[in-house]
Amino acid sequence: MSIPAASTAVGSLCLPRSRIRSSALQPMMAVRSGTVSSVTQILTKLQKECATPLPVLRHVADSMGNDMRAGLAVDGASDLKMILSYVDTLPTGNEKGLFYALDLGGTNFRVLRVQLGGIDQRVIATEAQQVSIPQDLMFGTSEELFDFIASGLAKFAEKESGEFQLLQGRKRELGFTFSFPVKQTSISSGILIKWTKGFAVSGTSGKDVVACLNEAMQRQGLQMQVSALVNDAVGTLAGAKYWDNDVMVAVILGTGTNACYVERIDAIPKMPGQKSQSGTTIINTEWGAFSTGLPLTEFDREMDAESINPGEQIFEKTISGMYLGEIVRRVLLKMDEAGSLFGSSMPDKLQTPFSLRTPHICAIQQDTSNNLDEIGSILFNEAGVEAKTEARQIVLEVCDTIAKRGGRLAGAGIVGILHKMEDDMKGLIFGKRTVVAMDGGLYENYPQYRNYLQDAVTELLGPALSENIVIEHSKDGSGIGAALLAAANSKYKHHI
Ligand code: BGC
Repeated sequence: MSIPAASTAVGSLCLPRSRIRSSALQPMMAVRSGTVSSVTQILTKLQKECATPLPVLRHVADSMGNDMRAGLAVDGASDLKMILSYVDTLPTGNEKGLFYALDLGGTNFRVLRVQLGGIDQRVIATEAQQVSIPQDLMFGTSEELFDFIASGLAKFAEKESGEFQLLQGRKRELGFTFSFPVKQTSISSGILIKWTKGFAVSGTSGKDVVACLNEAMQRQGLQMQVSALVNDAVGTLAGAKYWDNDVMVAVILGTGTNACYVERIDAIPKMPGQKSQSGTTIINTEWGAFSTGLPLTEFDREMDAESINPGEQIFEKTISGMYLGEIVRRVLLKMDEAGSLFGSSMPDKLQTPFSLRTPHICAIQQDTSNNLDEIGSILFNEAGVEAKTEARQIVLEVCDTIAKRGGRLAGAGIVGILHKMEDDMKGLIFGKRTVVAMDGGLYENYPQYRNYLQDAVTELLGPALSENIVIEHSKDGSGIGAALLAAANSKYKHHI
């Protein structure tokens, strides 16, 4: 997909600061005196506090590298958990047969089956289905959640058509993408560390999530075995590397965020004597928990304090899809309270947490009409406010400020990982083509965010080094990746 240049896409929608100050808010002065300065003051302060000039980006990238090293040295020594994925057998292309994947990580879960045809035929056929998870299950018991998922999987498995063939004498095998922080105990087992992204399911503490799924599959009478438990970032890396061996890093930017990368097994001091045939493994950084040197505002701090996991996942709360819309809502609410941005009435909807979501702020940034009509209707429908053109322009600036900070910080995080890798594998990262595989709805659907991310990477690396670094969308990598990892780690692999 081609990406429009950030400067045209975003810049053409934004008013120069002087115009906003002199004319845009004049009519509102009649409503409440002193309000113009309140709104502009809030905007100016926001832009200043969210700014990510090169020194800030450098500091974030360096801190990411340092935190990675600390997390690799000793468990618990860093915000970054640096989890061993036990994925040291990556798919080679030789895998054959029918494999399933189940992807649980957000408000939907996905099931997928794939028929692999070996080195010549690769992926012969795939079929997938998405099911949305009812809100109450995100706060229910583990049994309820896993029963719901297993029942969806069982229904999907029943509809297997003729192009999918299980090799004789085998049980169906599943790659389980579970996109929450898990302490892996093997390639096919792991204990949930904590829920993120608004999930708060009870009864999982200290339990192996594969056991939870297995028990639920048994209750459904579903004959399937989990051959690989993987994080979505890890699945994305495996899926992308299947097609392109230069993939060394994968990043998820969706509801939540995470990154993983290929690490040398002897560069993991906390796991001495760990074995891997390839000498490498994939480390799941869980970078959503990173927090050093981030430019945060009162709005971030308040959102964090009121969240179900205060003090946790600060990077995720600054850059990922679950939170960008909510930060914007908080800024607009303050602008309305202090500066009567939307006139004299105080709309209820704007006061409702998460009423404005990231897809809305993304849509706001795509409005190129003269009167910003689309922005007007989004604000009316989602926030319950009637906004004049001048107010719409302010809203646009707020969205841009928050998306810009998020994209640029994500870019700095990527550079932090690349530098850490280059330091340990001299020449093998910057000295050749290296691919960073990206997935997640935020990255996929928000062009301005994507551009800001790329700009920050290029600024930080400089033109020469950035030539070799390819940041590439890998669509649905994690689902296929999990199926491929199930195949690569098949219980029958010795029979291939
Ligand atoms: C989770 C990660 C996951 C990421 C993206 C985060 O909230 O902690 O495990 O990879 O979201 O889905």
